Order: sequence, then structure tokens, then C-alpha cells
Amino acid sequence: MKALLSREIGGPDMLVLEDVAEPSPGKGEVRIAVEAIGVNFPDLLIIEDKYQFRPERPFSPGAEISGIIDAVGEGVDASRVGERVLAMLGWGGMAGKVVAPAAKAMRIPDAMPFDEAAAFVMTYGTSHHALADRAKLKSGETLLVLGAAGGVGLAAVELGKAAGARVIAAVSSAEKLEIAKKAGADDGVVYPRGPLDAAAGKELAGAFKQICGKNGADVIYDPVGGDYTEPALRSIAWEGRYLVVGFPAGIAKLPLNLVLLKGCDVRGVFWGSAVERDPEGHRQAVADLFELYGKGGIRPHIHERFPLAKAPDALRTLASRGAAGKIVVTVGQE
Ligand SMILES: NC(=O)c1ccc[n+]([C@@H]2O[C@H](COP(=O)([O-])OP(=O)(O)OC[C@H]3O[C@@H](n4cnc5c(N)ncnc54)[C@H](OP(=O)(O)O)[C@@H]3O)[C@@H](O)[C@H]2O)c1
Repeated sequence: MKALLSREIGGPDMLVLEDVAEPSPGKGEVRIAVEAIGVNFPDLLIIEDKYQFRPERPFSPGAEISGIIDAVGEGVDASRVGERVLAMLGWGGMAGKVVAPAAKAMRIPDAMPFDEAAAFVMTYGTSHHALADRAKLKSGETLLVLGAAGGVGLAAVELGKAAGARVIAAVSSAEKLEIAKKAGADDGVVYPRGPLDAAAGKELAGAFKQICGKNGADVIYDPVGGDYTEPALRSIAWEGRYLVVGFPAGIAKLPLNLVLLKGCDVRGVFWGSAVERDPEGHRQAVADLFELYGKGGIRPHIHERFPLAKAPDALRTLASRGAAGKIVVTVGQE
């Protein structure tokens, strides 16, 4: 089977497509013939050894996949062969077949196509955990989402809308704002691509304050970081909740006097760790998200599909800030 391998530290250019042996499922594991892989920002970090996990090389990037169970290991119900599933792996997904613990392979709804299944659990799982568990977002509150046309950002827009919030999208282009509005954003701000000097930061803070209104944003969802964080925090409401989700624009430093003056909370979001600590809560969250998907309340927006041989281009598109929605790599058993 084919697999895209990281043999040396580096960006997408360093990845190589090779023929490797098919893996065999061990005790308690299933083997999945991969149909699609969702591309996420952590895939870029992991191949450069900048992520919280550093797998031994060679390894394949690709944290989330969908496919069909084609073999089971000892102790796993053989009737699972043929089941359509998604799985969160951390890495290893950009390959023809993968093995995973049976409990991590979750059956997907019959009507869910494989590309949408591969673009589902990381983004909606993260944003559901952030908005429901960490922020306790309530109907009628104002939610400001930065990077609102990115993977987790667009999921936050849809889930915020489904929760009855007034959703403000902040993005770097008019095209991205259009996509965020289609996903349910009520209003939006187009910000510069950065870096922002002090004057540009002040101007952006003014734009956020104006669009959020007199009370400010009750919840701010920040998967961008860098120069965007402080201007956003300046628009937060009294007792607002600032969600720290990710840093593609760099790790931000905050002046803590702002936190005091706003009487607000800065709350960290680490979905992967939350899943490990509360697997039952995760299963329930995914069941709720599947139900919402079935009712048409959420649906992954797929920006572009790439075959496995072109997966480095998929990663380059994400790195260049060029995706509006999700990028998916398809396998089709090459
Ligand atoms: N905390 C958690 O549990 C958790 C879980 C999943 C992901 N994450 C993190 O969340 C962040 C977003 O992940 P994602 O998969 O949604 O990524 P994504 O689809 O690439 O979205 C990130 C967004 O950030 C913005 N951005 C600003 N500066 C950028 C830069 N220099 N390079 C790339 N994008 C830039 C872009 O929007 P604009 O162009 O509109 O600014 C882009 O749409 C990552 O840092 C990821 O590691 C965290």
C-alpha cells in the first residue's frame, strides 16, 4: 500500500510517498481501509517537530480519517468488518490502511459521505468542547470567532449559531467572510493579514468593539493568536470568556491589566486531552454532533480535495492560509 512518510524534520516538501507493508491489527484493534483524511493545522506542526507529540520517524501525518473496517484483531467482534467509521489517530492517517484501537473507530451515519466524515470530529469536537464545556455559551450571547473560515473556526460559527448566539466572524478576506456568513455568521470583520503594528492593532480593536456592540463579546473563540489576540480581548464583555485554541499566527502575550479591567476569564482549550480524560463525555459529544448533522444543523464545508499523491499540496494550501473550510485528502486504495 502507499503511505506518505515524514523521514526528516521539515515542511510538506520533505514528505515522500512510498510503498509500505500493510499493517495487521493487534489485540483489541481494527484495521481500516482509508477513504479520506481530514487535513488539520497540527499536521503541519507535527512534521516539523513543533507539536506536543513527536512520533518516531518514519511516520505518516494525518490525524483524522474515515474508511471501512477490513480486518479485526483478537478480541474484536468480527461483525465489525465492513463497518463505515471515522477515527482520530493523532498521526499515521495518510496511508492506504491504518490500525486503530477498536474503541476509537466510531461508526458514522449511513448518509454521511467519507470526505465529510474525515472533516468532522477534530473541528466540531474541538469547537463543541470549547463553546459548551469551557465557555458555557448561552443563547442570546455574542460570540466573536477569529479565523472564522478555518477548520475549527467555521465549526465554531456553526455551533455558535446552533446554540442561539449572535455570531461575529473575523477573517482575512471578503471571500472567507462570505463562507462564514453562509455557515451562519450574523456579521463580520475583514482584518489585515498581518503582522500588525500598534496603530493597526488599535484600529482592529476599534473595529471589533464597534461590531460587537456596547456590551462587547461574551465569548471570544481564538484559534489564530499572534497580533490578533490583544485587539480581540479589548472587545470582550464584562465577565466574558476568552478561549485560547491555537496559534498559527504565533503565540500571543497578553497584558494582564486588560483581564483585570474587563473582569474576564482566559480559558485554555485542549480538546485531545479532554477526550483522553473523559472518553464517555467524548462519545456523548460525538453522538450529539452526529444528531445535529442529521438534522442539517452542521455540515463540513470542504474547500478542496487532493489525492494522496498530492497530499503535500494539501498541506501547502493550509500553510499559505489559502483554505476556506476544510481540505481533505482522498485515498481510493491507490
Ligand atoms: N486547542 C485544541 O484542542 C485544538 C484542536 C484543534 C486545532 N487546534 C489549533 O487550532 C488552530 C487552527 O487549526 P485548524 O486546523 O482549524 O487550521 P486552519 O484551517 O488552517 O485555520 C487556521 C486559521 O488561522 C488563520 N491564520 C492566521 N495566521 C495564519 C498563518 N500564519 N498561517 C495559517 N493560518 C493563519 C487563517 O484564517 P484567516 O486567514 O482568516 O486569518 C486560518 O483559516 C491551530 O493552531 C491548531 O493547532 C487546537
